[in-house]
Amino acid sequence: MPEIKIAIIGIGNCCSAFVQGLYYLKAKEKGEGPSKENLGFPYPEVGGYKVSDISVVAAFDIDVNKIGKDLSEAIFSEPNTAWRFQEVPELGVKVLKGKALDGIGDHLKGIIQLDDSPAPEISRALKDAGAELALNLIPSGAVKASRHYAKEAIKAGCAFINATPVTLASDKEWGRRFSKAGLPLAGDDLMDQAGSTVFHKAILEALHRRNIRIEKSYSLDVGGGTEDLNALERQRNLLKRRFKTESIRATLPYNFQIAAGTTDYVGSLKNKRVSYLWIEGRYFAGAPISIDIKVTSLDAPNGAGVLMDVVRGVKVALDQGLGGPLEVVSAYGFKVPPSPMPIQEAMRRFEAFVKGKEAL
Ligand SMILES: NC(=O)c1ccc[n+]([C@@H]2O[C@H](COP(=O)([O-])OP(=O)(O)OC[C@H]3O[C@@H](n4cnc5c(N)ncnc54)[C@H](O)[C@@H]3O)[C@@H](O)[C@H]2O)c1
Repeated sequence: MPEIKIAIIGIGNCCSAFVQGLYYLKAKEKGEGPSKENLGFPYPEVGGYKVSDISVVAAFDIDVNKIGKDLSEAIFSEPNTAWRFQEVPELGVKVLKGKALDGIGDHLKGIIQLDDSPAPEISRALKDAGAELALNLIPSGAVKASRHYAKEAIKAGCAFINATPVTLASDKEWGRRFSKAGLPLAGDDLMDQAGSTVFHKAILEALHRRNIRIEKSYSLDVGGGTEDLNALERQRNLLKRRFKTESIRATLPYNFQIAAGTTDYVGSLKNKRVSYLWIEGRYFAGAPISIDIKVTSLDAPNGAGVLMDVVRGVKVALDQGLGGPLEVVSAYGFKVPPSPMPIQEAMRRFEAFVKGKEAL
């Protein structure tokens, strides 16, 4: 198969797990590495593509501590705290300066230092690197920068994957822009493989099928990553909270009281995320039921596995000349897709696509 040439924007924790994951899975494909099991990695092939077909050809960040470094070094640079599970060889991909159009959050000042040298034109840098797909992994709240990168991706003829909580794939106008350019768009806001949103939705769906009426619920996250620190700033956290709340609310065909989002930063948790889920409802004869669940996971690997599938799905769309928002890939991998559907249906349709029986 041809290579899948991707550019990554935002060399933080999620990027670290993704890049490590590429080399972890490449070793496994060769029969090397500690485990033969495909844990958390259900699809060795998507549309004929293996993970070893993915190459990172360009990388962008705004932190002086990452710019100019080889990507293999930048992913382990502070303030990243992602779990280190795989050594990565030198890649010959230097991190380029991106555009910090939204500045940085108040709580990140002193942790991230902005580079004040001029940034290259992003579309030119994407073209020069030969990228065909750009993966947006910048922090929540960076709305202007996310839209700028999407615009530059169109200029450079790249597909775009939006993992951050900014409205792009779920926005009709942006959908039209990518359709017009004949370029695929997937998003918005990555949905972890084993994170609180996917559990919450799956439990609500199961309760609904048993005709249990949900009245109130919450899903509150605490973590120790820069993304959680950033979320302390209410304004930057608004969209993240809204995306998660909407995603959970859309699970049921009626309204109920729901609060969801990141509520605190605890530095000692590092890249751990602790989520508290609570659901209250009524079943037979109006009897009350209350459910409490606590989920503890490592944030970065939780998103990286899903991205392996999404990247290959988007590449298939590129090969097929499909432009505009991708329904199935987005519903499978993101909290707020252009066409929301139940988790089971999104999984079933993505699996059918993997087997070549479903359109994107
Ligand atoms: N499990 C997951 O990792 C997961 C799940 C769902 C959504 N997401 C989303 O993915 C994104 C990345 O998450 P993360 O945990 O890696 O965050 P992070 O804070 O660890 O990394 C963000 C990186 O982006 C860089 N950055 C900031 N502004 C930039 C700009 N304008 N241009 C280029 N680089 C910029 C930062 O310096 C940092 O290196 C967030 O939006 C998050 O909400 C991640």
